[in-house]
Parts: sequence; C-alpha cells; structure tokens
Amino acid sequence: MKAAIIGATGYGGAELIRILHQHPEVQIASIHSTSRQGNPAYASYPHLQDVLCLDFDDIATEHIMGTADVVFTATPSGVSSKLIPGLMKTDAKVIDLSGDFRIKNPESYEMWYKKPASDPQLVNDAVYGLSEWYQADIQQARLVANPGCYATAALLGLAPLIQKGWVDPASVIIDAKSGVSGAGRTQSAVAHFPEMNDNFKIYKVNQHQHIPEIEQVLSRWGGQMPPITFSTHLVPMTRGIMATIYANVAKETSLKQLYELYHQVYDNNYFVRLREHNFPGTKEVYGSNFCDIALAFDERTNRITIVSVIDNIMKGASGQAVQNMNIMFGLCEKTGLEFLPVYP
Ligand SMILES: NC(=O)c1ccc[n+]([C@@H]2O[C@H](COP(=O)([O-])OP(=O)(O)OC[C@H]3O[C@@H](n4cnc5c(N)ncnc54)[C@H](OP(=O)(O)O)[C@@H]3O)[C@@H](O)[C@H]2O)c1
Repeated sequence: MKAAIIGATGYGGAELIRILHQHPEVQIASIHSTSRQGNPAYASYPHLQDVLCLDFDDIATEHIMGTADVVFTATPSGVSSKLIPGLMKTDAKVIDLSGDFRIKNPESYEMWYKKPASDPQLVNDAVYGLSEWYQADIQQARLVANPGCYATAALLGLAPLIQKGWVDPASVIIDAKSGVSGAGRTQSAVAHFPEMNDNFKIYKVNQHQHIPEIEQVLSRWGGQMPPITFSTHLVPMTRGIMATIYANVAKETSLKQLYELYHQVYDNNYFVRLREHNFPGTKEVYGSNFCDIALAFDERTNRITIVSVIDNIMKGASGQAVQNMNIMFGLCEKTGLEFLPVYP
C-alpha cells in the first residue's frame, strides 16, 4: 500500500514516518508540508538522512490524487477540516489525527475548539478510531477521526466500568499529565525549555478540548452522562501520558472482581496490558503502542483509582493511526507496530 503523510514536518508526521518505514505492507509514497516543500526530509529531520529519500511535496490534493491508498493528515485542528473534503474526492482512505472530525455536535466543536465546525456530512460519516472499541466500524470507514491522546488514555481506562455501570458517573475525575511533545513541534511559550524544565504546570483547567470527546464516548457507552472533571498538566518529559482516574463504585466490589472485569474486556486486545503487579510508569510504554492499565480499590472511601499510561505520539496519535489503517485494510492490527517500549 502507498501512504501519503500531510503535516510530515510535525511530531505526529515524523512518528508516522518511523512506523511506516518498517511496516511490511506500506511504502511511504509522499510527504507533504506547507513550510518545507521542495526540501529533502533530512533537512527537517536529520535522523532520516539516507533512510527516507523523499522531498517534502505540496499539500494540494492534485499532488496526492491517484498516488496514495491511504492519507494521514497530521495537521492542526482547523487545517484538517479544510484539507479533508478535497482528499475525500480521491480514492484514498483518510486518517485524520486532529480533533476536527471527532465531535459529532457542531456547536460543541465550535465552543471547545473556537473554530468553525467541519463539513457536517463528513463529520457524520467519520468513524471515531478508538481501535479497541470500534473495530467493525473502522473496517468499513473511508474517514477515521483518530482519537486525542488524553482521550485515548482516559477512555481505555474507564471503558469497562462505564459500560458495565460499576461506577457512579457523576463521581468521575480524570487527572491527566502529558510530556511536552503533546504540544507539537511548533514553538510556544509553554513548551519553551526555561518555562517547562524543572516545572510542573496545570493548564486549560476545565477548558481542554478533549472534554467533549471523552463525554461523547462515555455517553455512547453508559447512556446520558453528567459532565466530567478533567484536568491536564504538563510534565518536563518528552513523551508519555498518565491519566489517574477516580470514580466511586456503584455496587459492592473488590479489587479481585475489578481485575476480573478488566481481564474479560481486554484479554484479547494485544495493545492493552493489565498491570496487576505494579503500577505503570510512562517509561514502560515509551515508543510503543501499548496502553498499560492498573487499578486500586480503597474500601475506606469506596473509590476506585485507575491508572492508564500511553506514549502520546504512539497509542495517543500515530501508533493508533497505523493500528486503524491496519484494521481498515484488513491486516492484523499489530502489523508494523510490535515495537517494544524503549527502556530505560
Ligand atoms: N503531539 C501529540 O502528542 C498528538 C497526539 C494526538 C493528536 N495530535 C494531533 O495531531 C496533529 C498533529 O500534531 P503534531 O504534534 O504533529 O503537531 P506539530 O508538530 O505542530 O505539526 C503540525 C504539522 O501541521 C502542518 N501544518 C501547520 N499548519 C498547516 C497548514 N495551514 N496547512 C497544512 N499543514 C499545516 C505543519 O507542517 P508545515 O507547517 O510544514 O506545513 C506540521 O507538520 C494535531 O492535530 C494534534 O492535535 C497530536
């Protein structure tokens, strides 16, 4: 299969190159950029010298038409919404890493993203690409809206409890932390070394754009849900997300029963690992497509703590995007994704 990557100068694009370069069924046909067109890939990414011998191409649809079976748009929200209508006129399947096609309600998108919503028909047709939960829909999809990084960690952690009604939804609190690559390659004050190094910051309190995405999926699983509390923090590390999630139990339970439930749900999912014997750290999924989950139950407070960790650029973005590509093209979902985490 031939793949095109738009936004290939960014972190999500660079990670797609890393994965697809060694994917046995894929050839990277073209890489696209607005700022570096005509320049070789290594000029932007020296680690690709003599490995990826392609120049960055224009992003216009004519440059992709007929040359790619799959197009990844690793572009910012507000950009993908403008690019994708043209791409849908080609024969290629499209996987978008931005938030532009995730939120079904246009008013909600505009409120949280502060941008005009995408074409309503395309939003309606787009399949939310949480690979573990929407395999059947992803198989049929022309356009996949790849989930957000925080949303992936939070939803995989919460899914069994919400779907089975084991927790009081009004009590759910998601406390999430991310490495700085989550902010993308574009320089910003918040990601500037003197600002983030030796620092630990909360940001977008009650305003993060992944809130409606998480609520949308929780409502799909558990019926009408109350709003959730979701906090995001920046940690001075390159990659990794840890979501620590708290919820009050709705029925009598024990840690053993909780793990039995999670095993029932996830044992056939290669990329979700249950960490019964020790709580996971972000380093243990670094560079891999795994989501590691551990649980605790406090009998004094009747509260469950769920810890869910991912690599934000892998399972949180490009890894899951390739997992979705595999599903869309009828390949084994693990193909080209069996990296072990980089350790230490
Ligand atoms: N980083 C993460 O952990 C992560 C996780 C999940 C999802 N995402 C999502 O994935 C997307 C890419 O994120 P990223 O971290 O890779 O961001 P990034 O490092 O800032 O890269 C963004 C890319 O978009 C391109 N771009 C910017 N403006 C453009 C425009 N007007 N037209 C066409 N291309 C444009 C840029 O390339 P040129 O300027 O060269 O064109 C760049 O290659 C975003 O929507 C982000 O929210 C990121």
